[in-house]
Amino acid sequence: MRSHYCGHLDTSLLDQEVELYGWVHRRRDHGGVIFIDLRDREGLAQIVFDPDRAEAFAIADMVRNEYVLKITGLVRNRPEGTVNPDMPTGEVEVLGHSIEILNKAKTPPFQLDDEHVHDDIRLRYRYVDLRRPVMQKNMRLRSQVSRMMHSFLDENGFIEIETPMLTKATPEGARDYLVPSRTHQGEFFALPQSPQLFKQLLMMSGMDRYYQIVRCFRDEDLRADRQPEFTQLDVETSFMDEEQITGLMEELMRALFKQILDIDLPSPFPRMTYAEAMYRFGSDRPDLRNPLELIDVSDVMKEVEFKVFSGPAKMENGRVAALRLPKGSDLTRKVIDDYTSFVALYGARGLAYIKVNDAKSGKEGLQSPILKFLPDEVVETIMLRTQAETGDLIFFGADKTKVVNDALGALRDKLADDLDLHQGEWAPLWVIDFPMFEHDENENRWNALHHPFTAPQNDSSAELQANPGASLSRAYDMVMNGMELGGGSIRIHRPEMQMAVLQLLGIGEEEAREKFGFLIDALDYGCPPHGGIAFGLDRIVMIMAGASSIRDVIAFPKTQSASCLLTSAPSTAAAKQLKDLGIRLSKPPKAE
Ligand code: AMO
Ligand code: AMP
Repeated sequence: MRSHYCGHLDTSLLDQEVELYGWVHRRRDHGGVIFIDLRDREGLAQIVFDPDRAEAFAIADMVRNEYVLKITGLVRNRPEGTVNPDMPTGEVEVLGHSIEILNKAKTPPFQLDDEHVHDDIRLRYRYVDLRRPVMQKNMRLRSQVSRMMHSFLDENGFIEIETPMLTKATPEGARDYLVPSRTHQGEFFALPQSPQLFKQLLMMSGMDRYYQIVRCFRDEDLRADRQPEFTQLDVETSFMDEEQITGLMEELMRALFKQILDIDLPSPFPRMTYAEAMYRFGSDRPDLRNPLELIDVSDVMKEVEFKVFSGPAKMENGRVAALRLPKGSDLTRKVIDDYTSFVALYGARGLAYIKVNDAKSGKEGLQSPILKFLPDEVVETIMLRTQAETGDLIFFGADKTKVVNDALGALRDKLADDLDLHQGEWAPLWVIDFPMFEHDENENRWNALHHPFTAPQNDSSAELQANPGASLSRAYDMVMNGMELGGGSIRIHRPEMQMAVLQLLGIGEEEAREKFGFLIDALDYGCPPHGGIAFGLDRIVMIMAGASSIRDVIAFPKTQSASCLLTSAPSTAAAKQLKDLGIRLSKPPKAE
């Protein structure tokens, strides 16, 4: 057994014999003396071998990076001038007495301290990548977060209950991962996109407070904060309203941040309606560290000569908005062109701007290709509303409301990143009062903004049906620094309301019975009012770790194209397996 972890050595151990196990992080030959930095999960220790102990010295001479060693030796002070204040163990070193090579290693595929290794290489050799101190730290942070969640919820009377992985589709807006059934050929299980329906059934089962840290599966486009399999902290409660649920959940978040990072999050978290978030920030998950805001100027653009603006300003679902960038007037033409290409990704057809060279000289002090189309009063209003000052730049978006919000909302984030505009470190927020439905113009149908089991604020199904577009839901999202950490809602607990909502979503009686008959039946057998939430555990750990991708807080994540480079999954199935499942491929699999 080891006597100590490498990373735990300090001056309290001076003159003690220690036994260490670990990997060779670095080996240096200093003219007759060999230094080995031995690494384990707790850190590095410097071991010195001198030729006085010939046998050990000879072995030390042979070792290479990532060899696995057992070393014994004596802890001593480092000689004056060689103390390393950057290293926790930097005051001491170990004079090596014996060394045993437990295993050799090939030259590693990359240097552990190289910051610029391609992601594919990191994922292919994940077991080497995970040896990096930052990855070790992230994994431990994740374990800590999950342990604290367990104890907080346990203390608050929540029961941990597991729900099936082989199940029926739960609609959360993504494609399902299907699993063919051998015993029921031609039929498929779906892996859960979330335990949504089961946790509601658990409320109907009288469990009162449920939680689970649970894997969810979604076949959707991947981004830095999305993986095809990810982990939720999933929670459901009975007889609690949205105030009580969000109150308890933000308490959990405050406890996590306080105990793990020693950060005091505000109490309570601010709340903002969906409508306000969209109007002011163009996003339902605004980053409140960012001081920039969208300023609506639709009303003054209705009659201007510039059709690009007057068109959307007159449209019912159109919008013209300004975004003032303080001290932005020195942005070059090239940079503005780059931002124009950036907003084009969100469907914007241009990015008009005004440079404020001198805020006091009226139109004379402004510079812009669109100035000639705008009457003096309009320009004055813009200057007043945006409170533009000399040296500022004002961007404009004009289009359908959705395009303007998406484009300027994304530009707002990008400007803050590029120009380092964020103020403060942590900005949690609850977004509330979401619309029940979102209209899909291409398909001319309503979609659930949250999921089809979310309760409307209005109790009357007749009123809901009369004006679906105007109904708000009892959903809430927790947002932190511009990222959606979690989302939940009070659920529908009456069968007639559930049927009305499904109907509005274009799911007829028959389809509803086929897909969620078990839930609708259960609503008939004594269903308590209930509600809950689910957090993305990976996202919480990512933000706490300061990582830029959730891949860095998942031990074995998938690539952008949803494959695992380590195990080469997915892979083809043997002909016999397919035959057992009654599956024939329409195309032979591509040769790897
Ligand atoms: P929702 O779909 O909003 O709600 O998911 C909850 C949270 O899970 C995280 N998340 C993801 N994290 C990583 N990769 C993904 N692909 C991914 N998709 C979602 C997000 C998100 O906020 N059943 C409802 C919850 C409820 O109503 O109680 C649900 O799943 O952080
Ligand atoms: P144009 O008259 O098309 O050359 O456009 C004049 C200016 O308006 C340019 O700076 C364009 O980038 C900008 N512009 C064009 N369409 C839009 C739009 N939909 N929203 C905002 N700015 C636009």
